[in-house]
Amino acid sequence: MGKLIGIFLIVFAVCHLGYSELDWWENGNFYQIYPRSFKDSNGDGIGDLNGIKEKLDYVKDIGMQGVWLSPIFQSPMADFGYDISDYTKVQPEYGTSDDLLALIEKAHSIGLHLILDFVPNHTSDEHEWFKRSIANDSYYRDFYIWHDGVINATTGARQPPSNWVSQFRYSAWEWNDQRQQYYLHQFGVKQPDLNYRNPNVVEEMKNILRFWLERGVDGFRIDAVPFLFEADIDPATGTYPDEPVIADTSSCPDPNDWCHLNHIYTNSLPEIFDIVYQWRDVVDQWKRDYDTDTKVLLTEAYTSFENLMRMYGDGVHNGSNIPFNFEMMAELNNQSSAEKYDYYVRHWLDNMPQGVYANWVLGNHDNPRLASRFGAQRADLMNIFLQTLPGIAVTYNGEEYGLEDGYVSWEDSVDPQACNADPSTYLKYSRDPERTPFLWDNSKNAGFSTADHTWLPVGQSYENNNIDAQLAAENSHLKIFKQLTALRKSEPAFSSGDYESVVVNNVLLYKRSADTGNTYLMILNIGDQDEVLNLNGLFDDLSGTPEVVLSSLYSGRINGEIVDADSFATKAYNGYVLRWTD
Ligand code: NOJ
Repeated sequence: MGKLIGIFLIVFAVCHLGYSELDWWENGNFYQIYPRSFKDSNGDGIGDLNGIKEKLDYVKDIGMQGVWLSPIFQSPMADFGYDISDYTKVQPEYGTSDDLLALIEKAHSIGLHLILDFVPNHTSDEHEWFKRSIANDSYYRDFYIWHDGVINATTGARQPPSNWVSQFRYSAWEWNDQRQQYYLHQFGVKQPDLNYRNPNVVEEMKNILRFWLERGVDGFRIDAVPFLFEADIDPATGTYPDEPVIADTSSCPDPNDWCHLNHIYTNSLPEIFDIVYQWRDVVDQWKRDYDTDTKVLLTEAYTSFENLMRMYGDGVHNGSNIPFNFEMMAELNNQSSAEKYDYYVRHWLDNMPQGVYANWVLGNHDNPRLASRFGAQRADLMNIFLQTLPGIAVTYNGEEYGLEDGYVSWEDSVDPQACNADPSTYLKYSRDPERTPFLWDNSKNAGFSTADHTWLPVGQSYENNNIDAQLAAENSHLKIFKQLTALRKSEPAFSSGDYESVVVNNVLLYKRSADTGNTYLMILNIGDQDEVLNLNGLFDDLSGTPEVVLSSLYSGRINGEIVDADSFATKAYNGYVLRWTD
């Protein structure tokens, strides 16, 4: 400890930024709101649009430019809004269309851009299209993927056309008595997959984008992109091809689990890219036709790195502005080394196409919260990391104040992924813990709702840890986050600076500087050991005396403190931002 041994990697990763004037989303800060859990304005125990409107100044205050709302459309709520029964209507428990228009207006009036969630892979089984498809109405007959099934040669019984498994477990095929056929659902039984080989489906979905563009939204987060296409029927067999079982089933032994199969026929088919490019055309055309601000697409795809790069565009077509970068979410955990952190930064920066922006996503409503995944002690470090990398940062509501997962009992569980399991295994599948209500203050239900029963319980003790308390405290996770976003906005180093990094033992250090402004050094002690570092000589052009601009809550450092570059003591799990003044 305390020795500068073990400098085993010095890298130079240069990100080709340097744009003089940035469009609103470039280098932007995006905030994901999970509407059901953000703020309930009418006391029914469920968050809503007026609640969000009430708290929009908070979102602005913490330094955001874009706000993405998880789905607020009409839905039976089998998958909490990711099962839409009318794409053009607002779910009544969230408010009315007028409430949404008022929210968009309020967002714009304070300089925020509002992004809606577009769920194109599947509708609800209660959508009019599906009802008409069941009824064999000619226009809608092939809006979904239907098949008679196959007859089992041994038993003579009818069975699903292939072995495909749903993301939510069990067969991806469900029998429909009325139509006397199976339909495909890559997610829940109540979420039939649309058929993108039908041009009418493609056009109807574009019209939905146009419907909301007309109402002033600033873009879309596009759900479940890799699932848009499946292999077509094999003419030789008249059915769909079975997917192979993964080579080593020890990581996923249960055949009912999605991870048990290798999804070569149902996931990330080459056809998905063209659809994304077509959607990009729709939003770009809108901007040209109506001379609006840029409309952006954010795409959700848990897929290969190569596919994520292709999501940006193929050199001829533009695609997603922000293909969510899930690499770190998938690959890093509380045991990961500083080298790994550095690797995933450079991997994206060094391989992304020219002229696009990197983006960094560390949490969302489908994954355990940052503070739970990486350890509460690293909560600030992770935010320092996210906010100081080159490109776009995406923050899931709650991560800005170090919120951990809430506890949700089996009895209180509502997530279909949890409910498809059992009391002994549900926690492995459940997404409820990261969806529990936001903690605003120390009043009933943490100020989220005045109801006696909330849709999910408030999952954490909130009496002393909530937004009000963190704002009132001399220092807090939230205050650190606000300092970060302000710094990022005001300093050229964070909008056009390169990324130069060094790993010393388990500490990641990276420098950001631009042609103008100050030079910054981020020091992330990712490991579990304190380290004393000699900062001199690690990077070119770093001479003089640095000061601490901000650091993790329990670092013991004071903002503005001048430090000794020869011997800078870092604490395990703590992050630091140092400034070299010009
Ligand atoms: C991804 C969404 O983020 C998740 O919450 C949802 O269950 C699935 N797509 C299905 O829409």
